[in-house]
Amino acid sequence: MKRKHILTIAAIIAAMYSVAAPSATDRWYSDDLAADGERVYRQNCITCHLEAGKGTSNWQKRDDEGNLPPPPLNGSAHTWHHDIKTLVRTILEGGAKFGGSMPGFKDKLSAREIASVIAYVQSLWPEEKYGTWANAYPDDAETGIPISLEEVSAPAENAAVKARLERLVSAGTPVGDPESTPIAGILGVEAGPRYFYLDDSGRYLILGEMIDLESGENLTELRLAEMRREKLSQFSNEDKVIFPASGEEQAVLDVFTDTICPYCRRLHAEVPELQSAGVTVRYLPFPRSGPEGPGSDEIRSVWCAEDPAAQMTAAKSQSDFQPSNTDCDRADLVEAGYNLGVELGVNGTPAIILPNGLMIPGYRPYQELLQVLGVQQ
Ligand code: HEC
Repeated sequence: MKRKHILTIAAIIAAMYSVAAPSATDRWYSDDLAADGERVYRQNCITCHLEAGKGTSNWQKRDDEGNLPPPPLNGSAHTWHHDIKTLVRTILEGGAKFGGSMPGFKDKLSAREIASVIAYVQSLWPEEKYGTWANAYPDDAETGIPISLEEVSAPAENAAVKARLERLVSAGTPVGDPESTPIAGILGVEAGPRYFYLDDSGRYLILGEMIDLESGENLTELRLAEMRREKLSQFSNEDKVIFPASGEEQAVLDVFTDTICPYCRRLHAEVPELQSAGVTVRYLPFPRSGPEGPGSDEIRSVWCAEDPAAQMTAAKSQSDFQPSNTDCDRADLVEAGYNLGVELGVNGTPAIILPNGLMIPGYRPYQELLQVLGVQQ
């Protein structure tokens, strides 16, 4: 029974991503190139990314200084989401540009060494991950790494594209570095909670979502989901108000909530059903009218309470709920939660974030949530 259950979850998650059934794929590199790459890897990368690209299992969790640990490169994390250009650029320039800590290898490794180490890293990916990657980037899978790496780095133009986009979005909205997309000449850029496409001159902006008609994937939504997962991991679980699954945990939902919103209350009334089906609900605070607006004191009193879960239930079920203690160390989490929500594109409550980072804006009956999560009642 148990086994069947796990299979169902996997099937539903696969269906959500609509991953095309991968077939055995010819790789773009030769075994020799990958073997050379292993030598390069042992000399330059293994100290951080460990034996066979094993990396740090808890790779999405930042340390006390806010740095991400070296992620696995072996296909278990998300290295296979990146096209060749992005992989090359990461190795050439390191992570500093993105606030990361990986050093750049521009002055250390030759073009061939970089190509070989990427071949080695890709040789660590299971067939299925390589197949998904090759489907997403058929040109890369066909030609592999051009000998001239300048062709794939081109950081100067990207800086111009970024500058144009920065002028366009409202002040203070963080704009990411342009990255290539499956469409040649079209770059993708994260800007606050949104994701834009531009041509590589930075002159033309395209508003909309990119769908891969072959795999059925909404690539824009997947990119945003990845962004949400990363940002959400910065808010630690101890800082959430948690209603744990009863019995064995089957799935977890992160929910931005406001105690005075009627649909948040409705969802909350169904949390016991979710718990008994094996779903943990982790609440983050999101006072809809802002961190000082109406309702924000109610939320602060939940986060300040000795038993936040009990206080959450009281705040959401009593019509005459009076916020008591609203001034404590944890009170600041309300503003932090609100700001994080804005960064993730939350603009109403409840906003439900699925484990894969996809967002459901608004209330859904618990039966529907269980179905989306692939959890049986
Ligand atoms: C000092 C430690 C360190 C060394 C050495 C290092 N890395 Fe990294 N690497 C990281 C960290 C940390 C990250 C996460 C991003 C960041 O913080 O810059 C990362 C990220 C990456 C990524 C992106 C992974 C993803 O899933 O997005 C790739 C690819 C990568 N490294 C490859 C390499 C290769 C190849 C080498 C050797 C040539 C190497 N790294 C050497 C620490 C290191």
